[in-house]
Amino acid sequence: MTALRASLASRLSYQPHRTMALVGAAACLLCLSCLPCRAAPLPPQAASLQVLHWWTSASERKAANALASRLADENVAWKDAAIPGGAGLGAGKVLRGRVLAGDAPEVTQIIGTSIAEWAEMGLLLEIDGVAATGNWGNVLFPAVYKLVRHRQHVVAAPLGIHRVNTLFYNRKLFARFKLAPPRTWAEFERAAQRFKEAGVPALAQSREAWQVAALFENLALVEGGPAFHRDLFVRQSQQAVADNRLLAALERLRAMKAWMSHPVEELPWTEVVQQLAKGEAAMLVMGDWAKGELVAGGMAVDEAFGCGAMPGTGKYHLYSVDTLTMFAGDYSHMPAQEKLARLMVTPPVQAEYNAIKGSVPVRRDADPARMDSCARASWSAFSQDAAMLAPSLVHRMATDEASKDAIIAEIHRYFVDDAVTPQEAQRRLSGIFRALHGKNAKN
Ligand code: GAL
Repeated sequence: MTALRASLASRLSYQPHRTMALVGAAACLLCLSCLPCRAAPLPPQAASLQVLHWWTSASERKAANALASRLADENVAWKDAAIPGGAGLGAGKVLRGRVLAGDAPEVTQIIGTSIAEWAEMGLLLEIDGVAATGNWGNVLFPAVYKLVRHRQHVVAAPLGIHRVNTLFYNRKLFARFKLAPPRTWAEFERAAQRFKEAGVPALAQSREAWQVAALFENLALVEGGPAFHRDLFVRQSQQAVADNRLLAALERLRAMKAWMSHPVEELPWTEVVQQLAKGEAAMLVMGDWAKGELVAGGMAVDEAFGCGAMPGTGKYHLYSVDTLTMFAGDYSHMPAQEKLARLMVTPPVQAEYNAIKGSVPVRRDADPARMDSCARASWSAFSQDAAMLAPSLVHRMATDEASKDAIIAEIHRYFVDDAVTPQEAQRRLSGIFRALHGKNAKN
């Protein structure tokens, strides 16, 4: 680990000043007439930051652009490096490749437990000064403040909180079928049944692994609340995996396939959102970035579509917090990086960015009166006691990357192959947890 860290740190520190000095020395050797020989003056450091992220949908782009223009107001250019791929699957790979090649971007969207993984290698800029000046310890929600720190240092700047347990519904379809938005599981089932009978897919869903696992972690929350969700995905406890509530969640996931269009296609999340928008499906369980996308497409909250909590999880908040981290490199970008970190948490930027993105502010002093009904419900749910909050498995809030990937792959396998029984999937998950337990020693 130390060797990897040292090699990464040395590869990472792209040192423009040293390069310029070498160029200067070479020029000097060639130019015999220039006495006394002096290296050419260094050009002033351009105030620009390359930002690697995975916000490529219409609403995500708009939200990132809003941030970029606020940064431009402070004379720092945002050089965009967007890598498509929902939940950051592509961006994570590109980041690893770039860091190994000694070409780390100055700013990167790194979220959840990945923050600690990169910080542990000593690559992230510590922004304790920015956090102290902005009083982050008091203004941020405690769960957010915890996420951005590693070994007592602040190493990430937070942008917004997404609620992963959100149910969206197409209001036109609900009105046509004279149905009220479902709050309980029984109402959810009744509504789904009505749509199914009428030949309308009740639920928009992709078979992409991360999207399947997102639905499944919602079902685990329905069955056992945040405590059970944590036992499963944070602690990966054998007791939790053997619990009947896990079996019930697996059975529900299988049963819900009947509510989806057949076969369930492998679609990017933006296309799944479009199915709801066009009335090709009546409901959608997805994080509230879907709200940002629906609004960007011209649909208004509480008019064309509605949203509420996933039935049976009204009091809970299954969260994913978006954060940006700064790679320290040779520290030449530090002033601009600190500017961006400071700016991100200011109340006006929080309000503007989150309204477009679909998420809610990370600040406890945000004004709920300025939020739409979905955001207000999310922000209030997140303001509660920590016992009501559950960190999303799929969005890296619950466990490390390798564990998350192993669990998601198993859930996906069960979802796509009806020959795998719920009991078999439970046994396989238990085997994975046992292997991870050996690795993480967390149980
Ligand atoms: C999450 C991220 C969101 C949104 C979503 C879909 O991980 O927090 O901002 O981009 O993925 O890609």
